[in-house]
Amino acid sequence: MSDQNIFDNEIFFEEYRKLRNNPSAANDIVEKPALFSLCPELSGKAVLDLGCGYGENCREFSKLGASRVVGIDISEKMLDIAGKENKYKNVTFIRMSMSDLSLLQDAFDIVFSSLAIHYIENFDKLLADVYQLLEDNGTFVFSQEHPFTTAMLKEKPRWAKDSDGNILHYNLSDYSIPGVRKTSWFVDNVIKYHRSFSSIINSLSAAGFIIEKMLEPLPNEATMEKYPSYKKYYHKPDFLLIKARKNTV
Ligand SMILES: C[S@@+](CC[C@H](N)C(=O)[O-])C[C@H]1O[C@@H](n2cnc3c(N)ncnc32)[C@H](O)[C@@H]1O
Repeated sequence: MSDQNIFDNEIFFEEYRKLRNNPSAANDIVEKPALFSLCPELSGKAVLDLGCGYGENCREFSKLGASRVVGIDISEKMLDIAGKENKYKNVTFIRMSMSDLSLLQDAFDIVFSSLAIHYIENFDKLLADVYQLLEDNGTFVFSQEHPFTTAMLKEKPRWAKDSDGNILHYNLSDYSIPGVRKTSWFVDNVIKYHRSFSSIINSLSAAGFIIEKMLEPLPNEATMEKYPSYKKYYHKPDFLLIKARKNTV
């Protein structure tokens, strides 16, 4: 495996666990409800979850009636939790990288991925593999860090603020320079990959997908009132969500 496996770094793993246990985490409040809203009917469907992490989504798919769920992840530590906390009927977890998807000899109605695809360098290969694994008219639903979030090449302040510390606007930079980003997130040298909005869409189209819906979700008003820091989403969304269908014509 040549892909980075940062979630098995002890410090990163512990800090990420704390983040996800925080009840105001954006994953639970903003990203996950929006991503599930893009999923087709799950009853009787075979589902593959790329970068399944703790396996919470796999468990949910099974509860919602999926006939078979496979969750893959590169991280032993994440899958260890998945096996302990989210093993559920019809759910299988496999340790492998998304880069090696072509090794799976299987077929799925839905391929799903939550906040993992920006860790993959070769998006076009991933799309070709997903296309291959999907049944005719199957659905690919995924979220990733928004391209405005992944853009910045060097660490610098993301937000311009007034003298009272109020956010004025987002400091977007380096947007049109695609490729690797080495960021500091709990630890140094966390590798992610930046792709512009148009290149993501063009890659999906070239791979044979029809885009059915896109979301850049905001927290609802009640959440903004409860957690005012979420008002920054009015300036810049954190997540890009896409629902695409395998075009077989
Ligand atoms: C931000 S977490 C999201 C976990 C889960 N999808 C969720 O929504 O809770 C990203 C996950 O992607 C996994 N990941 C990163 N690179 C990967 C790769 N090349 N292949 C498979 N999984 C990968 C990480 O190990 C981690 O579990």
